[in-house]
Amino acid sequence: MTEFPAGFLWGAATASYQVEGGVTEGGRGPSIWDTFAATEGKVLEGASGEVACDHYHRYPEDVGLLAGLGLGAYRFSVAWPRVMPDGRTPSSSGLAFYDRLVDELLSRDVVPVLTLYHWDLPQALEDAGGWPSRDTAFRFAEYAAVVHDALGDRVNQWTTVNEPFCAAFLGYGSGVHAPGVQDYDTALVAAHHLLLGHGLATRALTEQARPGHEFSLALNFAPAIADGSSPAHLEAARKFDGIHNRFFLDPVLGKGYPADVMADVAHHGGRFAASVLDGDTDVIAAAIDWLGVNYYAPARVTPLADPLAPSNCPLPGLRGLDVLPAVPPLTAFGWEQTPSSLTSLLGWISTRSGGLPLVVAENGASFVDEVVDGRVHDTDRVAYLDSHVRAVHDAIRAGADVRGYFAWSLLDNFEWAMGYSQRFGLVHVDFDTQIRTVKDSGIHLGRIAKSNALPT
Ligand code: NOJ
Repeated sequence: MTEFPAGFLWGAATASYQVEGGVTEGGRGPSIWDTFAATEGKVLEGASGEVACDHYHRYPEDVGLLAGLGLGAYRFSVAWPRVMPDGRTPSSSGLAFYDRLVDELLSRDVVPVLTLYHWDLPQALEDAGGWPSRDTAFRFAEYAAVVHDALGDRVNQWTTVNEPFCAAFLGYGSGVHAPGVQDYDTALVAAHHLLLGHGLATRALTEQARPGHEFSLALNFAPAIADGSSPAHLEAARKFDGIHNRFFLDPVLGKGYPADVMADVAHHGGRFAASVLDGDTDVIAAAIDWLGVNYYAPARVTPLADPLAPSNCPLPGLRGLDVLPAVPPLTAFGWEQTPSSLTSLLGWISTRSGGLPLVVAENGASFVDEVVDGRVHDTDRVAYLDSHVRAVHDAIRAGADVRGYFAWSLLDNFEWAMGYSQRFGLVHVDFDTQIRTVKDSGIHLGRIAKSNALPT
């Protein structure tokens, strides 16, 4: 059996700030990423998303490329500061861009899969406190309803928040992402408000849902592989898995915050515990139709004899453990390539959630690509995607209800703090000329999509 289930969604993903450009067009307001990228030393080579892939103007070409490959779905995000330049007041010219994009997708029979928050918080809301402020979760639900009002007649697939782990811990903990705050107590509070925002938005969208609408959020998982089998190794893996995976998954599944993680982060948790008000965990447990699973690589964890020794694992509450260097062959980003971890991850989530439908909302790899005679022979990425698609198939055969697979990314794009140095696209972008060149990996994934089966 090499086929995927009927109706399996094959697609590619992007995110607004990473591809759109046009940061002052149509009345768009500034986001935290505009501010962060303009701050010296924050983004490699001083890069920004000011132009990015110019998707704001070139979306018809990009949608044409996606459809031409044979992919049937496009996962994109809406820029909150385009739709609400000050974070609160709707802008019809901002919404009009997504009207055009959705119409373009539908005219090509591509299913729009819309994400409401992929990290570009309106700067005005950051100035009012950002995600560490509870109010932001309520503003997010209002924004979600505005986008749903405008596009709910044509968009069925809705994702609230993308990777709250990164938005909270990289944005407010390590500070390597916008807004660049470095305080883990604050990061934990931000994480709670991102989850609360997901729940409030899901409630709002469910109230105004039409038949066929499906709601979700996308979490990034890093399966923990213990680098040994001693109790200390297993304890290190438990801690890592706790803060990275279960801290976000369990409340969404209605299990509340895991008790062991609460204990692990207790020394950070003064403000976090106080930020979780009565009823919040019920809101976060709002019913979803599927879970977006973003997977790139596992983490190899090991115990540290001295719990306070400096560690390669800058996460709150993770005293006494270290993350080891990844095992080659590595991607250009230095990430490991371990497809079997995706199979076990999907199985684990499926069991833990009682069979919730899953969609691999992001999976992909950066490599150094070159255009030669109008072609990009990205054999490493072909192998990465091929092996991970097989891993998804293995999970389905083992009983997981996986309904889709989205490669990250349709286009080479602005890779956050790494600027334009990491290429993840199925389509190569020359950032000087904006010329697009389909890579072999795009052709390969398109063939798999068209046959809805593993290549033989
Ligand atoms: C996850 C994020 O959602 C996306 O924005 C990013 O580009 C990829 N990972 C690759 O790092």
